[in-house]
Amino acid sequence: MKVNINGETKTVLAVWYEDNKVKLIDQRKIPDEISIIELKNSNDVYNAIRDMAVRGAPAIGVTAAYGLAMAKKNNEDMEKAVELIRSSRPTAYDLFKAIDYMKKNNFSESAARRYALEITERSKKIGEYGNELIKNGDRILTHCNAGALAVVDWGTAIAPMRIAKDSGKNIFVYVDETRPRLQGARLTAWELAQEGIDHSIIADNAAGYFMKKKDVNLVIVGADRIAANGDFANKIGTYEKAVLAKVNNIPFYVAAPGSTFDFNIKSGDEIPIEERDENEVLSINGKNIGPSQSHARNPAFDVTPNEYVTAFITEYGIFKPNELEKLRSLISKDLFM
Ligand code: MRU
Repeated sequence: MKVNINGETKTVLAVWYEDNKVKLIDQRKIPDEISIIELKNSNDVYNAIRDMAVRGAPAIGVTAAYGLAMAKKNNEDMEKAVELIRSSRPTAYDLFKAIDYMKKNNFSESAARRYALEITERSKKIGEYGNELIKNGDRILTHCNAGALAVVDWGTAIAPMRIAKDSGKNIFVYVDETRPRLQGARLTAWELAQEGIDHSIIADNAAGYFMKKKDVNLVIVGADRIAANGDFANKIGTYEKAVLAKVNNIPFYVAAPGSTFDFNIKSGDEIPIEERDENEVLSINGKNIGPSQSHARNPAFDVTPNEYVTAFITEYGIFKPNELEKLRSLISKDLFM
């Protein structure tokens, strides 16, 4: 992704491996500062994923892959390293896919590098397929951050927007702020600004207002886990955006690589939903916003039933929910997957 550092435009990745360390942009600090953190062992990897220094399903997978290669080089107990990293967050399927991939490939550094490269190239493909759905003048709504930061580069939901912009289309993006952690306002808006894509941040509860006014004509979001029937988990608040899109006759697309599809589970009922610390809801930027006696609930994801999905944009092409058997067969023949 393009990043402006002290007036100079540089191309950086969200996560990479260098000098036997996993390095990543600390996503908790954006947009205030671009700070790089270095992970030196599996415990650091666990903390970085759990505390969301790195987040977004594919980026979590890549961090785990590099983390396991590093743990192997460090001569760590690999059973313990796997179990620790596996327990960092429960919902994004990419984490488990990456761990299985690394196990099959003996935790080698070359396998981790291949995993990261595949994910990056596949997200560009998602961008190319998704771009075919975007017309000049489209006004697109997105939720959370499914951009380069959430992948390694390109993004999933944001990749089609980047390619549409690069191919000369004039587009506008409504960015849901995405409480409680504000991935939309802090990360997606920052990425779109770096890429020069016209956008406005809106309060989460403003999406229906703009949809009803016909000010949104396309919704594209990412996913953390997609079940065999097309039900999918994504950031909390996605479900209500999908329902609103259907009620307002707006196409609703889910962009995700094969590594996010969990064909072992039949429906969204089986997706484990992470519930995070109540303080993420009770405070903003470390300042309490409610009475001290109040508690909060903080589910990090919700599940959107397949009936609200127009289609899935993947690196294999575009599939309607009732075409996922075809996708399943393509994934099963894919040597990388
Ligand atoms: O809790 P997060 O920030 O890890 O949640 C991320 C999302 O919900 C993204 O939309 C999803 O991982 C897709 S990222 C390409």
